[in-house]
Amino acid sequence: MKKEDELKKEIFNKVREYYLLAHKKGKFMPGNSSVPYAGRVYDENELISLVDSALDFWLTAGRFARQFENEFAEFLGVKHCLLTNSGSSANLLAISALTSPSLGEKGLKPGDEVITVAAGFPTTVNPIIQNNLIPVFIDVDLGTYNIQHERIEEAISEKTKAIFIAHTMGNPFNLDAIMKIAEKHDLWLIEDNCDALGSKYNGKYTGTFGHIATFSFYPPHHISMGEGGALVTNDTQLKRLIESFRDWGRDCWCEPGCDNSCGKRFEWQLGELPYGYDHKYIYSHIGYNLKVTDMQAAIGVEQLKKLPSFINERKRNFRLLYEGMKKYKEYFILPEIQIEADPSWFGFLLTVRKDAGFSKNDIIKYLEEHKIATRMLFAGNITRHPSFKNVNYRIYGDLTNTNRIMHDTFWIGVYPGLTEEIINYILKCFEKFVDLRGG
Ligand SMILES: Cc1ncc(COP(=O)(O)O)c(C=O)c1O
Repeated sequence: MKKEDELKKEIFNKVREYYLLAHKKGKFMPGNSSVPYAGRVYDENELISLVDSALDFWLTAGRFARQFENEFAEFLGVKHCLLTNSGSSANLLAISALTSPSLGEKGLKPGDEVITVAAGFPTTVNPIIQNNLIPVFIDVDLGTYNIQHERIEEAISEKTKAIFIAHTMGNPFNLDAIMKIAEKHDLWLIEDNCDALGSKYNGKYTGTFGHIATFSFYPPHHISMGEGGALVTNDTQLKRLIESFRDWGRDCWCEPGCDNSCGKRFEWQLGELPYGYDHKYIYSHIGYNLKVTDMQAAIGVEQLKKLPSFINERKRNFRLLYEGMKKYKEYFILPEIQIEADPSWFGFLLTVRKDAGFSKNDIIKYLEEHKIATRMLFAGNITRHPSFKNVNYRIYGDLTNTNRIMHDTFWIGVYPGLTEEIINYILKCFEKFVDLRGG
């Protein structure tokens, strides 16, 4: 064995030792230990992989990024995966790519409309605005918290060019209906799959239906890189456009550290540049730099190995919570799932009924006092936020349920860090609260 390989082995053994000592988890103490809504789930292998990439000192996207992109695409059964530095960047890139002049008539132009929802995460909607497009908001259903798909066709105008929505909390939206509408009206469909990695619809992974899908690897998500995101597509032209916008807007598609992938680096003539201008420095789009680092990807490579078990554990925790909460149907609207859907849940959503005898604030205060973390359905109604003061948007119909969500909906965790013992503690707390406060 070479000296540096021996040293590497020694370093990895030390990292393993360190992990076992420094990252040991304490025993769960009901009432004293916190019950997070989500968190990083990892072992020594993520730490070793991170150190491995540090020893390479390649830093920018390299062997780990390539490995992750290949394995992630294979897992989902798609042609292309492109890593980026966050789910928000993935969303920005998805919309930006569709503005490329190379798409001709189909390209998104300033003033075009994109159908979406107001009950969700801000950076699903923000890229629409950042690209001078107009978000058109449609209400969602309570229970599924997904778009009211029956309203989409009525909301379409001659300016409508795309649909951009998330599978809320991992619960797939009606892909049969929405794919049909997108095809009929020749609309782009972007799936924000940031909260739904591993969810299936009719036996096929969500994120593989639309033209582009996006993913987030921020710690609460199904797998984590700390910060990180990805886009997937089966369309090679879109892949190239995403790559261009991600990598400074350049025309060249060389991997970091590579030259002349096109084989004619000094033989291009594009724009008004002189013939032979170095392809590495030719820009076909007003781009960004939203690339990932190899350290992030190195963590992702190990997380991906754990993904199947993470998905099962999220489903198990959801099932245990649902079974335990069924008896409180008169107080809460419980999550609803379409028959075709098999969600890989992000969280367990609850809406307090009007006649429950208590408010959302009452129950979340009680849960938080008992160290159970609660979260909102993100922005609630994005149009009510200070950020929306001067934004040009259109609401189709009304946002009655979206407003209701802002007042009455919250969620608790289902992430793999929650054991059956912890889920039982959560259910006990609900029982005590309902005994005390239920109307
Ligand atoms: C539905 C959805 N889209 C996009 C994002 C943004 O992802 P990131 O935090 O990686 O930027 C999130 C974040 O949690 C999200 O929940």
